[in-house]
Amino acid sequence: MAKIIAGVGSSHVPAIGAAIDNNRTEEPYWKRVFSGFEKSKEWFTKTKPDVAIIVYNDHASAFSTDLIPTFALGAATEFPPADEGWGPRPVPVVQGHPQLASHIAQSVILDEFDLTVCNKMEVDHGMTVPMNLVMGKKNPDEHWPCPVIPLAVNVVMFPPPTGHRCLMLGKAIRRAVESYPEDLRVVIFGTGGLSHQISGPRAGLINSKWDKNFLDNLTKDPVKLSKIPHIDYMREAGAEGIEMVMWLIMRGALGDNVEEVYRFYTVPASNTAVGHIIMETRDKPKPSARKSSARKKPAASKRAVVAKSKAKAKPRRAAAAAKKVDRVRS
Ligand SMILES: [Fe+2]
Repeated sequence: MAKIIAGVGSSHVPAIGAAIDNNRTEEPYWKRVFSGFEKSKEWFTKTKPDVAIIVYNDHASAFSTDLIPTFALGAATEFPPADEGWGPRPVPVVQGHPQLASHIAQSVILDEFDLTVCNKMEVDHGMTVPMNLVMGKKNPDEHWPCPVIPLAVNVVMFPPPTGHRCLMLGKAIRRAVESYPEDLRVVIFGTGGLSHQISGPRAGLINSKWDKNFLDNLTKDPVKLSKIPHIDYMREAGAEGIEMVMWLIMRGALGDNVEEVYRFYTVPASNTAVGHIIMETRDKPKPSARKSSARKKPAASKRAVVAKSKAKAKPRRAAAAAKKVDRVRS
């Protein structure tokens, strides 16, 4: 059975891609940004997923105002980098996983989420920049470390999907992956954001307090995040801050029990707040297994059991306090 083992949230600022492509990553301005992803690259290499699902938005590269699907899943064997005005980025062609992608499409559509299926699609910086940040710089003649299934979400033309719809789609994707018979370890990315506005009188807007609350609630209370209306994203996080709803698809696919294992936040990169988080799934034993082990416990008075559990709780709390989330801020 395939399984989603972790989620990665990452901004996909185009200027980050330009800094990589033009060998400017060691410049002090950019080093501050890239240094926050060194641990992520180590994590990805160690985790070695079989497939990545990357939720991103197309920036008028594969789609235009003529045709914008709300959710478009890539089921092709490969996805070339799009020409975004300066020629295609010098990165490898992304290899897809058409079998798993087709299975996800069938499963979520029958689960009442109507996807557009793309059998031919170019991908832009929305997808390839987070890939570089977490998988490293790759030249066009190299390979990305694993196949990728792109999921493009419309956040560029009103109306984008709601946060609730995104969270529910993530849950449907989890059900789809878990019904795929092959043993695959899958990582899902949510990309975009964080707070930014690229035009108009509020151009350059960044709201770090909003961003940090959003990152905190990804683990603590994603349902609360799913109730945020579009207008709040616009007002608090800027016109392009709406990209953050895509992170809720990633979060929904992780299930209820997650552990934040890494976070990075810095401002600015270009005129955008850069946010990054890694969460691993922490599945609990199935209820039936817990019941059967509870039945095997020797009889004891309720008071004795409570006292024993309190005594055990202290070292557990101490261990939890010692195990801090690895966070980097600059
Ligand atoms: Fe974007």
